[in-house]
Amino acid sequence: MTAASKLQAILERARGARVVVLTGAGISAESGIPTFRGPEGLWTIGSREYQPQEIATWGFFERQPDAVWSWYLYRRSICQQAQPNAGHRALVDLETLLQDRFRLVTQNVDGLHLRAGNSAERTYSIHGNLDFARCAAECVNELVPMPLHGAWARGCTLGPREREALHCRHCGSWLRPHVLWFDETYDEPRYRYESSIGAVSDAALLIVVGTSGATTLPMQMGMIAANRGVAIIDVNPETNPFSRLAQAAGVHVAGPAARVLPELVRAFRASADADRQRRRS
Ligand code: OAD
Ligand code: ZN
Repeated sequence: MTAASKLQAILERARGARVVVLTGAGISAESGIPTFRGPEGLWTIGSREYQPQEIATWGFFERQPDAVWSWYLYRRSICQQAQPNAGHRALVDLETLLQDRFRLVTQNVDGLHLRAGNSAERTYSIHGNLDFARCAAECVNELVPMPLHGAWARGCTLGPREREALHCRHCGSWLRPHVLWFDETYDEPRYRYESSIGAVSDAALLIVVGTSGATTLPMQMGMIAANRGVAIIDVNPETNPFSRLAQAAGVHVAGPAARVLPELVRAFRASADADRQRRRS
C-alpha cells in the first residue's frame, strides 16, 4: 500500500470521529521561529551565558528573575515578529470542518495557533503561552497579558521600567512567564494535562506535527493512541519516535508542515464531501 492510499484509508475510517492534532516547534519553523533541538535551536545555542536546561527552571528564576525574563523577552520578541504559516492556517480550516470533534494540543509557547484563529477552548497549550504572564507568588489565579511588547535583543538587561511592569499589580511579587519549566510538572488548571489525555483517549485519529517527542505528555499521548490501535499520521521531514509509533496503524508523511498540512486538510474535506454526496444519492 502506498503512503497516499494508506492516508486515504485512514481518513475514511476517521470520518465523523474525533481528531486530535499534537504540534511541536516544527510547525512554526517555517514562520521563522527556531526549533529547540535543530542546529540553530534555542536549546542548542542557549542564552548568552546560561544553558537552557538551567535557565528554564523555577530554581533559576528564584535566584535570577532578571536573567530569566531577559531570555523570555528575547524569545517572545522572535514570536511576536513571526506570522502564522500555511500549516497553522490549515489547522484552523480543520477545526472549522470538524468543529467539536477537533482538539489541538500544542507544545508551542509562541501563540501562533491562536493568532491564526484556532479557538482557545479547543486549543490546549500544554507548555504555556508567552503571550501571558502570571504572579510568581500565585496570589491570584489569573493570566496577565504580557505587559511588555516590542523587540528585545538577546542578552539585553532589564531597566527600572521593565522591572516595574513585570511585577504583580495585586501583591508586588515578580510576574513569571506563563510557561512550564523543566523542574515543574504538568497540571490541568494551567496546562490542560487531563484534558489532553482525555482527548487522545476518545479520538479515532492522532495527527502529530513537527515534534521530536522529547517531553513526557506528548509521548504518553502517542503511547495511548498506539495502545488503542488508533491511527497516527506523523508530519515531519525527519523520522522520530512518533513516526515509529505510526508504523503500526498509521503513516509518516515526510515533509514540511506548511506544505503537507494544507494537502492533508484538503483530503479531509474531499473525504467529507464525498461522504455527503453518497448519503444524498
Ligand atoms: P524539537 O526542536 O525537539 O523538534 C522539532 C521537530 O520539528 C523535529 O522533529 C524536526 O524534524 C521537526 N521539523 C523541523 N522543521 C519542520 C517543518 N518545517 N515541518 C514539520 N516538522 C519540522 O521541538 P519540540 O518537539 O517541539 O518544552 O520540543 C518539545 C519541547 O521541548 C518544547 O515544547 C520545549 C522543549 O524543551 C518546554 O519548554 C517545556
Ligand atoms: Zn501577586
